[in-house]
Amino acid sequence: MQRPPDPAAIPLPARADLPRHVGIIMDGNGRWARQRHLPRVAGHRAGVRAIRPVMEACHQADVHILTLYAFSTENWQRPRGEVMALMRLFGETIDREVGELHENGVQIRVLGDRARLSESLQEKVAQAEALTAGDTSAILNVAINYGGRREIVDAIRELAGSGEDLTALDEPTISDALYTRGLPDPDLIVRTAGELRISNFLLWQAAYAELYVTDTLWPDFGETAIHDALADFSSRERKFGAIPAPIERVPAHAGNVQHADRAE
Ligand code: FPP
Repeated sequence: MQRPPDPAAIPLPARADLPRHVGIIMDGNGRWARQRHLPRVAGHRAGVRAIRPVMEACHQADVHILTLYAFSTENWQRPRGEVMALMRLFGETIDREVGELHENGVQIRVLGDRARLSESLQEKVAQAEALTAGDTSAILNVAINYGGRREIVDAIRELAGSGEDLTALDEPTISDALYTRGLPDPDLIVRTAGELRISNFLLWQAAYAELYVTDTLWPDFGETAIHDALADFSSRERKFGAIPAPIERVPAHAGNVQHADRAE
C-alpha cells in the first residue's frame, strides 16, 4: 500500500492542546432522515453535505488529519438498496470533490478492504489517491469497508506473507502494517448521535485517543459542533498511563512555542 506523506510534512496545530488527528464516527443519518419523514438515503446525502464545514473548521484550527468512518465491514448487512445507494454516493462524492481537495492540497486515502468495492469505485479511489498522493496541506482518510479487527488481521497476514518473524513482532511493526501506516494515531475520536461505542473503528490506533460523544446527529454536526469537540479536547489532561510531570509553563510573552508541554 502507498504511504502517506511523512507526518513531519503535515503542518502541526499551532496550539499544543489541539489534536493533530481527529477520527469521526458519523452516526445518526438514518435518525435525521426519520425525523423529517425522508428516506434513509436522504440522511446519508445530508451526511455528505455535513463533511465540508467540519473539514474547513478543522483546517482553520490547524487540525490537518481527519479520518471519517463512512462504511464498516458490518454495514453490508444493511438492506441492499441502502448499501447500493451509499456506494453510489461515495463514487459521486469522490467525482465531485477530488479536484477541489487536490487544489487545496488535501491528500485522500481510503482505509479498508477495497476488494469488495465495485471495480468502478475501486478505480475512482485509486485515481483520487494517485492524484492527491503528493498533497501535504492535510490528509483526509475515508474508511470504507473498514473494520478495526479486519485491519489487524490484514496487517498480520501481510507481515506473515512477507516472511516477517512473527515470534519477534512488536508494536511499531504492526502499526507500520496497518492501513494508517505512517500516520500518527488519532488524538481525538468524535462520535455523533449519542451511542457510547467504538464500533470497530481504529481499534489499534485508538489506544490513547480521547473520546467525545455528542447527541447531535451527524447531518446537524457543523462548525460549532466541531469547535465544541476541539474545545473539550483542549480541556483534557492526557496522561498516556503515566503520572503527569509538573508542567514548566512557557511565559505568555515567549511567543508560540509549539508543543512545549505535549506529553507525546
Ligand atoms: C451512520 O448513520 C452512517 C453511515 C453508516 C454512513 C455514513 C456515510 C456518510 C455520512 C456519507 C459519507 C460519504 C463520503 C464520501 C465520505 P446511520 O445510518 O447508522 O444512522 P442511524 O443510526 O440514525 O440509523
